Amino acid sequence: MAASKKTGGLAGVTAGATHICTVGKEGAGLTYRGYDIYDLVDNASFEEVAYLLLHDKLPTEAELVAYIEKIKANRGLPDALQTVLETIPADTHPMDVLRTGISYLGNIEPEGDFSNQGDVADRLLACLPSMLLYWHRFHTDDIRIDTATDDDSIAGHFLHLLHDKAPEELHRKSLDTTLILYAEHEFNASTFAARVITGTLSDMHSAVTGAIGALRGPLHGGANEAAMALISSFDTPEEAAKGVRAMLERKDLIMGFGHRVYTTSDPRNTVNKKMSRALAADVGNTTLYPISEAVEKVMWDEKKLFANADFFAATVYHFMGIPTHLFTPIFVCSRITGWAAHIMEQRADNKLIRPAADYIGPGLQKWVAIQDRT
Ligand code: COA
Repeated sequence: MAASKKTGGLAGVTAGATHICTVGKEGAGLTYRGYDIYDLVDNASFEEVAYLLLHDKLPTEAELVAYIEKIKANRGLPDALQTVLETIPADTHPMDVLRTGISYLGNIEPEGDFSNQGDVADRLLACLPSMLLYWHRFHTDDIRIDTATDDDSIAGHFLHLLHDKAPEELHRKSLDTTLILYAEHEFNASTFAARVITGTLSDMHSAVTGAIGALRGPLHGGANEAAMALISSFDTPEEAAKGVRAMLERKDLIMGFGHRVYTTSDPRNTVNKKMSRALAADVGNTTLYPISEAVEKVMWDEKKLFANADFFAATVYHFMGIPTHLFTPIFVCSRITGWAAHIMEQRADNKLIRPAADYIGPGLQKWVAIQDRT
């Protein structure tokens, strides 16, 4: 049934107020707690950004050191969760693994009352990479890894668990930067889903489980995996330009382009594009970056559509040896900070979220007994 034109997809509808983030706001652009995204990318670590989002202030040096230690101490997985992860089939999409993992953690480490919500958020932040990579390595390499490593950063922890060795600094730093860029984005679909669930006074694990479900789809977080599939389906920039033009003629969606809020560019793309180029040079890949640029040019020339955060993030991850099906889960490992900040903000001034709908169904019908129906 067609959605009411007036509110289709709630486009342009203000659905609440937030202190956490501005997206494309005139004179501000993308900010987290008032800090410009480019300042954060240039100066902060992802842990500093996580602290900022969750505590509404930048940490002092001592607070940051303590926060990093807290994250490190929360990386271990309970045996029962490891057993569950081992039983999830190898061909499951890792987003479904995280959805189940968080939901299960809610059984064995229930939130209870909300007095420890900050600790629950930190626990989820710390153990999401552990959960993902425990499952991945168990099924890919047939080993049970110890996820409680001593890496100082979440990016380093992730790459260490994935590749079984400490990462090159360029790779660690690039992943750290994408985690900052993905951390928060106001009332996007998954965050809004988390706020709706939170509005019923449900627990944080339920809200995050729902958010993961929303992020999974290709119109939201899943776009980075679809973008990689597209980019790697071409051998040359010329072939890519021709192929994308043909797709546009067929009215296909090109994943990694367009945005509900931004109209001319996505500020995160500049950073991802620069990193993609640097990493391509670092690993000596001479094809995927020019192909990506060719796709970007056709999309702008033909449709005035711009690359969003997901398009160049795809090759950033690919160049550091991350398998494509782990791309969207990385988004989860980052966005957990934004989700948790919104969950806490919703709780601080809660009201059940329950909008109204324009009814466009049939008028009142006369009841027909079952034997008289055709
Ligand atoms: N490829 C091709 N055409 C696109 C497009 C894309 N990526 N994004 C938007 N368009 C077209 C639509 O088909 C539509 O054309 P029409 O007016 O001829 O029907 C027009 O641009 C407006 O798009 P619409 O779907 O109404 O915008 P929206 O605000 O509802 O959707 C997105 C926003 C992000 C869902 C949409 O741009 C999209 O599907 N992008 C691809 C998925 C993606 O990258 N998601 C990650 C977002 S960060």
